[in-house]
Amino acid sequence: MNEEIKTYFDCHVFCCVNERQPGHPRSCCSAKGSEALRDYMKKRGKALHIKGLRVNQAGCLDRCELGPTMVIYPGGTWYHYNSEDDIDEILQRHVIDGETVQRLLLQPDQTTLPIDQQDP
Ligand code: FES
Repeated sequence: MNEEIKTYFDCHVFCCVNERQPGHPRSCCSAKGSEALRDYMKKRGKALHIKGLRVNQAGCLDRCELGPTMVIYPGGTWYHYNSEDDIDEILQRHVIDGETVQRLLLQPDQTTLPIDQQDP
């Protein structure tokens, strides 16, 4: 019989802020602006008074080529994000409304980003 596990946070977000030397073949989320966007997500989450939300920084999540990356629990949903607008949409639609933001979703077997989400 499985007992339901109660989570400490209702929504726990891990944003990779790993930094590598410039020119590294895998690049890194930090070089793509993840630290500022993580800070923005924390600030917006507080401003919106989202109860039970925790936004943490993480080391490399091993999906560097898809970065910046974040994973949200419960559920283990992965997203790529590039802008404050992306963060706003994840907060509103995923965290508050309980939906999945399909346009930013990373599939488990995904190894490249769609052309419209790649760095300019
Ligand atoms: S540097 Fe962010 S996933 Fe590896």
